[in-house]
Amino acid sequence: MAQAMRFFELNTGAKIPSVGLGTWQAAPGVVGDAVATAIKLGYRHIDCAQVYGNEKEIGSVLKKLFEDGVVKREDLWITSKLWNTNHALEDVQEAMDSTLQDLHLNYLDLYLIHWPVSMKKGAVGFNREDLTQPDIPVTWRAMEALYDSGKARAIGVSNFSTKKLGDLLEVARVPPAVVQVECHPVWQQPKLHALCKSKGIHLTGFSPLGSPGTGIVKIEVLKDPVLNMVAEKLGKSPAQIALRWGLQMGHSVLPKSTNEVRIRQNFDVFDFSIPEDLFVKFSEIEQERLIKATVFAHETFGAYRTVEELWDGEI
Ligand SMILES: NC(=O)c1ccc[n+]([C@@H]2O[C@H](COP(=O)([O-])OP(=O)(O)OC[C@H]3O[C@@H](n4cnc5c(N)ncnc54)[C@H](OP(=O)(O)O)[C@@H]3O)[C@@H](O)[C@H]2O)c1
Repeated sequence: MAQAMRFFELNTGAKIPSVGLGTWQAAPGVVGDAVATAIKLGYRHIDCAQVYGNEKEIGSVLKKLFEDGVVKREDLWITSKLWNTNHALEDVQEAMDSTLQDLHLNYLDLYLIHWPVSMKKGAVGFNREDLTQPDIPVTWRAMEALYDSGKARAIGVSNFSTKKLGDLLEVARVPPAVVQVECHPVWQQPKLHALCKSKGIHLTGFSPLGSPGTGIVKIEVLKDPVLNMVAEKLGKSPAQIALRWGLQMGHSVLPKSTNEVRIRQNFDVFDFSIPEDLFVKFSEIEQERLIKATVFAHETFGAYRTVEELWDGEI
């Protein structure tokens, strides 16, 4: 009998639903329907971010679902993320308040520092001239204040290397509950996984299907031969195997889809397991980070001259 793995427990005692709906690149006019469809199918976790530009639409849908009695606020897990332009001590709370207003919520289940990268306040887009020197200990203090206030029931970080997470742990009064990073069979993150495990931090995998359809991604994770061999043996789709691999690693996963058939398929991963003899085959897969974020590395501007520095060599 497969372990259902519907939740993972955080160091706050809260239970994060193991499969969440991703909303990056879910277009305005489409994302609302995707969220409503997912919640009606049983999803209880929605992954948002201010920079995705669609929190208002998601908020309107959530409000309607609450009013119609489809789901209760306390049964949902809503994550959002602090954008790079709001890292200053005095800007963090305002940024979160604006996200709460857009989402029509009065608390978040999880608030994350989106990147270990800071940009000029008010900057729009991804211009390298807007990059500034981040001060993560200061930003984290503001995140801790949000946690103390109860507006963020858990706090964490995203796109941190093992080194950057280790550095944060040295100065954090409230340790991060979650680190959200790229994680799938082609980028398995063993070092970060080990640090998280030893420190009681939960790892959430973003782009768990390898972000197909994103122009910058050149490798097709869903075409990986190991994934397809396992999918064929178990009678599942490659996407379901990629997600189930994440769950069996102990990670929550955030597949994005705006298509009802695929939203349903991505949630149908609780009643089977990848057996040990097939699970070990994943260690044969060649590794590569797909979302390198070269846009955040520059010789002159910001903190990281190269992508190697941004990721502390984990690339
Ligand atoms: N913290 C961060 O910096 C960060 C970065 C990236 C992502 N994320 C989060 O993680 C979420 C997921 O990552 P992602 O959007 O990059 O990529 P992903 O979930 O790995 O892949 C999404 C793509 O796969 C397609 N798809 C979905 N289900 C499928 C299935 N069963 N079979 C085949 N194709 C399928 C989707 O198309 P359809 O919509 O047409 O189904 C979409 O093009 C994001 O939406 C976001 O919430 C966070």
